[in-house]
Order: sequence, then structure tokens, then C-alpha cells
Amino acid sequence: MAYTMLLRNCGQLLTLAGPATHLPLAGENQRNWRVIPDGYVACVDDRIVATGPMAELDDTLVATATIVLDASGQVVMPGLVECHTHLVFGGNRAHEFQRKLQGETYLDILASGGGILSTVRATRAASDEQLLEQALHHLKGFREYGVTTLEAKSGYGLDAETELRLLQVAREAGRRQPVRVVPTFLGAHVPGPEYRGHPADYLHMLVQEVLPNIYPEEVPFVDIFCEEGAFSVAEARRYLEQARALGFQLKIHAEQLHDLGGCEMAAELGAISIDHADYLTPAGASRVARVSGGRTVAVLLPLVPLFLRQERFAPGRAFIDAGLPVAISTDFNPGSCPSKNLWLALSVACLKMGLNPAEAVAAVTLNAAWAVGQQRECGSLEPGKRADILLLHVPSLEEIPYWLGENPVQQVIIGGRIQHA
Ligand code: NIG
Ligand code: FE
Repeated sequence: MAYTMLLRNCGQLLTLAGPATHLPLAGENQRNWRVIPDGYVACVDDRIVATGPMAELDDTLVATATIVLDASGQVVMPGLVECHTHLVFGGNRAHEFQRKLQGETYLDILASGGGILSTVRATRAASDEQLLEQALHHLKGFREYGVTTLEAKSGYGLDAETELRLLQVAREAGRRQPVRVVPTFLGAHVPGPEYRGHPADYLHMLVQEVLPNIYPEEVPFVDIFCEEGAFSVAEARRYLEQARALGFQLKIHAEQLHDLGGCEMAAELGAISIDHADYLTPAGASRVARVSGGRTVAVLLPLVPLFLRQERFAPGRAFIDAGLPVAISTDFNPGSCPSKNLWLALSVACLKMGLNPAEAVAAVTLNAAWAVGQQRECGSLEPGKRADILLLHVPSLEEIPYWLGENPVQQVIIGGRIQHA
């Protein structure tokens, strides 16, 4: 069948098509996937049908109706997969930025009734329309950075009604624009204000009143924040076991500020990802890799310690060397990372976590797709996958992390359609 779209003369084609493996890229595979110089990508409708060097392009499939894009001197790569965001929230926390600059810590601000709880007040007070409008605004920003699939967590309602509302808003936002939105239930962010000091009762309420009203086909993941001031490892284990029994896949925010053992516990339960992990040690990472059999992805969030003025960044280099697959995300949220710039996160992961450019690119594409269960649909340029493709205005992989904070995206294609700003 004739191609409907062809990207030709791609200066460097980063397909991320790894060796046939049923696991995310780790170790050598995360480091050494192949770059095709002077390549092409061919699509029919919303799917990729062929990729390879220009010398192997089958000209007979190029018709007069084929949309042809010339990508000479440009990197062509898969659309970014943003695998950890708190997309839906009311208000912002610019006022707390001042407190932080004066030396208050993230947990001090939370303990004083601010932090997450301040966003909960603003979110509860917002209408569905206001939340949707703000979510769509942020999605537009993500799209401009080349994000084509995005995970969106609830977690700023902290009561049954508002948490369900937030999941509905996330799903509606996915229907209203082209970026694929994958929702996650993070009702277990911190105990709701009505349950202060009673985390177990709060989790019991979630299990009784919320989990039975959401469905894994629509909301595939259940997440929990395991940290001082949030939930203990024992509470998180019990809750995640209950969620798993209902058919949800598991995620955890753990080892963000202390080494409590949440990552290892979640990996034992088969979690699809363990997120933050700034305090996870190299030895802990080896145990996570071993108990999970390489299926659990560590999601690094390098803009968070930067924004929270912490010195400790996850030892990403050691994670990869230990065989733990690594993804990178912004963690976009109003408290610990108000940035949507996943390219900046990628650069900071190279600078502060020891990733090389190839590892970092795999971390925002294929491994991020694994972290949200979308690896069959996106994350690499391979026949059968959705035609989510970026043209960058840089000529090589090495320049991607180099232009610190710049947006290298020239053109975004989602599902075979060129997106116009
Ligand atoms: O992933 N750490 C917990 N939750 C979010 C921050 C939420 C907030 O501060 O509003 C995070 O960093
Ligand atoms: Fe988060």
C-alpha cells in the first residue's frame, strides 16, 4: 500500500528499535542502540510501516499523494513519552517558592498544612471546567516540547468525590487533543486533611469507596507516595496488594527524601515503575533489578531535587550498570516541579545522574513507554507502532542534551498527523 507520509534523508534516524527483547532497555542495550545515518521513516495513516537507510527505500510505494518531509541534517526520533505527571490541579504554589528560597524544606511546608494540602484546597474549589482548561493548557505546552504520550495522576482531591473527578478530567483532556493521556490513580498521595494522623483509615476509605469505582481498562495504574509525612512502607504494601488484587498495575513514589525501602517493596509486588529513587542506593538498585527480573523501570525525576534545593540526585549511572532500566520524566506538578521541559530533565539527568546521551534518549522514549505499559504502541519507530515522530533542529544525538534548556523540536507528528503550534 502506498505510503501516506515519508520522512526522507533523515540526518540521524534514532529508531530506538532495540534487540528483540520483552523487557525495557537496560545496561548495554540502553547505552548502545543503533543510530541510522541518512535514514527514512514511512507511514500509512496513523502507523509506521517501514524504517531504514535511504538506500533501502522502496520508491514504488511513494505516490503523488504521499506527504514527503525532507529531514536533511536533522535528528528524527520517536515522540517523547512523559511517564510521570500530576497534570490536573487547581491554582499554583508560587507563594511557597519564596518560603523555599528562605530555607524551609518540602516536608516542613507540608507539615505546616501547605505543600500538597494547599493544592488540594485550590483543586477542591475549582470546577471541572476550570481544571480541564488548565490541564489542556499544560498539554499544549507538553505538545510543543514533543510529548506525544503522557501519564497523568490524580492526587489533589484526597476525597472520594474529587479524586474521581480528577480522573474524569484527565480522561476528558485526553479526548480533547492528540496527546495520548494515560491516567493513574494517586489518591494515596498524602492522607486527606480529614484524616490527618490517620493514614491507615484514609487508605481504608480509598479501598472501600474509590477503587471499586475505577476500572483498570480506563485507569491502569495505582500509585502511592511512600515517605515520612505520607505513607509508611507497611501501609503502602498493604494498599498496593489490595490494588493489585483488583487488577491494577502498581507504581510508587519512593526514596524521594529518605531511604525507607519502598522501591524494593514495590518491585517485589511487581510494580511497573518506581519513581524518584534519589535515596535509593546502588545496592538497593541491584536488589530491585533482581527481584523484578528487569521489568520494573526506575523513573528518574532530576528536576525535582533541583527545584527543592536538594543535593541528592538518584545515582542513575549505577542503576543502569546494575541492570535496572531507567526512564526520565519531569514529574510536572505545582510543588516540586512546575516545569514541562522534558529536554531540560534529560540534560540534568546527564549532568547530575551520569547518563550518556543515548541512555537519556532511551529514557524519554522506549523505557518511558514501558513505564506506562505503552511499549507496544509507542516509544520507538518500528513497523506497527503509532506514527509519533519528532523532527529536531539539531544534527546529532550528542547535541540533544547539550543545548541546555532549549526546545530542539521543529516538528511534531502524532498518529501520522503534523501538529501545527
Ligand atoms: O512527585 N512527592 C510527592 N508528590 C509530588 C509532589 C506533589 C506536590 O508537591 O504537589 C512529586 O514530587
Ligand atoms: Fe510525582
